[in-house]
Amino acid sequence: MGSKKETQKPATKRIAVIPGDGIGQEVIPQAVKVIQASGAPVEMVEFDWGADRYLRDGITVPPDGFAMLSREFDAILVGAFGDPRIKTNIHAKEILLGMRFKMDLYANVRPVRLLDAALCPLKGVEPKDVDFVVVRENTEGVYTDAGGVFKQGTPDEIATQEDINTRKGVERIIRYAFEYCRSHTKLDGSPRNKVLMCDKSNAMTHAGGLWQRVFKEVRSEYPQITPQHMYVDALCMQMVRDPRQFDVVVTNNMFGDIITDLAAGLQGGLGMAASGNIHPGKTSMFEPVHGSAPPIAGKNVANPFGAILTAAMMLRHLRFTKEADKIETAVLEAVRRKMSTQDVGGSLGTRETGDFVARAVSQLSLQTAAKFKAYVGDPDFHDGAIVQVRRESHELVVEIEGYSGAHYSVRFSGVKSVKSHRPEGMVLYALSEMEDEAPSRSFHFANSRQPDEEGGDSVLEITAQNCSVERR
Ligand code: NAD
Ligand code: IPM
Ligand code: MN
Repeated sequence: MGSKKETQKPATKRIAVIPGDGIGQEVIPQAVKVIQASGAPVEMVEFDWGADRYLRDGITVPPDGFAMLSREFDAILVGAFGDPRIKTNIHAKEILLGMRFKMDLYANVRPVRLLDAALCPLKGVEPKDVDFVVVRENTEGVYTDAGGVFKQGTPDEIATQEDINTRKGVERIIRYAFEYCRSHTKLDGSPRNKVLMCDKSNAMTHAGGLWQRVFKEVRSEYPQITPQHMYVDALCMQMVRDPRQFDVVVTNNMFGDIITDLAAGLQGGLGMAASGNIHPGKTSMFEPVHGSAPPIAGKNVANPFGAILTAAMMLRHLRFTKEADKIETAVLEAVRRKMSTQDVGGSLGTRETGDFVARAVSQLSLQTAAKFKAYVGDPDFHDGAIVQVRRESHELVVEIEGYSGAHYSVRFSGVKSVKSHRPEGMVLYALSEMEDEAPSRSFHFANSRQPDEEGGDSVLEITAQNCSVERR
């Protein structure tokens, strides 16, 4: 054995893929293609659970199905369930709610991010204004479907639908929200610092009272986080009046369902929204927020971004951070360039949109050895343009104006060489550090224009000892 340190390959993760019904069968293949293009070391196995299978052999979840998923897979990627031929929706209940309940995936995490101002129906709202997350309780509430019908079909018929809230269930989801707040930053890198509990404790006093008491207890363990509260009706109004105020929202199963469709509207519609059904340490499940959308199914018009962003969320959960970053970068590029379906302003089909994102991810993958210094993770830097390249004593300084007007100075010291062609005006999607040039470090400003577009021939590559990015 040589003395050179071997670089350890990350272990391959196994992903169960369940496209399900309707547009799930169209958008999930796009997500799978993009995952493959990202180079993430995963093995994907597809399952045919859904309406067709149920109508064929009466099976919703095969025996041992959930235990098998937990045992054999690290994560599950799901499309949607719902088919007009199955009026009872029994298969969706058994498969989707089955996974959430029986695998105890108690935290339904639904990030709400606006990728482009053009997608938001509200005026004057920028991407930086919509960056919050809804943490939805996922195993209790009215979704337990406890209750019954008495004297059915008679004028005296009675239907009850129980709202089940356990102390343990409420406490773990509220704690999850505080932990999420503590350990996550916003896209612009600023810390998250508010947790808002949303309930209807003014009318539903028993369940609401429990949530109120537990929230009060748990929040005292996080003095650095500002606790807030809103009734769900007021929250709906605030979400469309001023989405800037939200950071982390925690709520019960039903309110979480409703407010995340509303929140999807802020992002450009249901086709843009991603989610994870998570139990830390257990096999978790990831699905777009939207349903099977029967009226548009089979027409190659469904927006695949929600499913693709869900795939990125899943890869991030599996700690494939670089691959997740690449996918999010590529989706942002597709959105901005309108390489998308009609619902978000483009003219491509589902497959063609998926192809564009997969290609963009592959291009980013060509820089596999590169380490991003600044990139789409920072929405201001992304799509920024180089405004000036100048010498300042011993340094080379590249001034960048970000997408939303933020300014960056990128300083290089110990400059050994510069390869440059019309750098001023270059529109960027990343500044990366190439590792293969060690020991002298080489930095590459990635041009977001294609070579055949105006400005696509701009180049700026710098070999230097040091580089720092400073935001002003
Ligand atoms: P839906 O999310 O399927 O559709 C709501 C609206 O959004 C429709 O106008 C639809 O065309 C549009 N839409 C949804 N996803 C889109 C996408 N990717 N691209 C473009 N437009 C999109 O909700 P629904 O119509 O209330 O329900 C249809 C079926 O889906 C029902 O059976 C429902 O129970 C089921 N459903 C399943 C899930 C799930 O499996 N996670 C979620 C929601 C609804
Ligand atoms: C969702 C869906 C599901 C829910 C349905 C299909 C049961 O609307 O994932 O948001 O209500 O949770
Ligand atoms: Mn829903």
